[in-house]
Amino acid sequence: MHKGYISEKYYPGQSCEKCHVSDSWQANHFNHDQTNFKLLGAHAQQSCMACHDRGDISHDIKKAKFIDLSSQCNSCHVDVHNAQFAQNGETDCARCHGFENWKPTSFNHDLTAFKLEGNTWA
Ligand code: HEC
Ligand code: HEC
Ligand code: HEC
Ligand code: HEC
Repeated sequence: MHKGYISEKYYPGQSCEKCHVSDSWQANHFNHDQTNFKLLGAHAQQSCMACHDRGDISHDIKKAKFIDLSSQCNSCHVDVHNAQFAQNGETDCARCHGFENWKPTSFNHDLTAFKLEGNTWA
């Protein structure tokens, strides 16, 4: 089924049970931490196909992309900032945003030339 689409190291000896259970082909217990992209925050709530079958909700497993899927944030997310925070053509959204929502929680303003000190105007 997935031969040539999913690297063999993720199911040595064709061990389908690394991902599948006997009730349904859609339920999946793959340990994604084995890849270079941990599923954190909102990512952990998505179906496999939300990322691996992007732009094509046909859910045709043969069209799904596993090998060489980019983990660059802006390969899946529209850069609403029009590339103004790009470095070498790539925007790492995680410099400012976490994985729960788009609040700029991971940005440290004190690393800029203008520290936010004193009155918070609370
Ligand atoms: C690394 C994880 C992984 C392994 C290992 C794996 N699969 Fe899958 N398989 C998936 C994913 C992801 C889907 C898509 C499920 C969905 O549609 O949400 C899928 C879907 C399927 C489907 C349903 C196809 C369809 O058209 O809906 C079949 C059948 C299937 N796998 C068979 C197998 C068999 C047989 C093996 C072992 C030889 C295997 N899989 C091993 C991840 C895996
Ligand atoms: C939020 C997006 C996202 C979701 C949801 C997601 N993945 Fe992935 N997945 C990725 C990215 C990005 C990579 C590439 C990581 C890398 O380069 O190692 C990847 C890599 C993989 C690989 C390795 C591909 C290969 O053969 O080299 C497998 C297998 C895989 N994912 C299976 C799954 C399964 C099964 C699910 C559902 C349980 C799932 N993924 C859910 C984004 C996602
Ligand atoms: C392979 C595709 C893929 C990649 C790569 C990816 N994401 Fe996502 N991400 C998704 C999907 C699918 C969702 C759920 C649908 C949505 O909210 O767009 C999501 C949701 C999110 C959310 C929640 C958004 C909300 O509205 O609540 C945040 C935050 C997020 N991602 C941040 C990131 C960051 C930061 C990176 C880079 C480190 C990244 N993502 C890389 C696919 C991806
Ligand atoms: C240098 C910091 C920085 C980077 C990098 C960055 N953002 Fe933002 N982003 C912000 C700030 C600041 C806001 C405004 C937050 C607020 O309204 O409080 C924001 C807001 C957003 C919003 C909400 C917009 C709205 O209308 O409410 C989205 C969506 C978003 N960013 C997506 C992204 C994506 C996708 C990337 C990567 C391609 C990214 N951001 C990279 C700083 C950044």
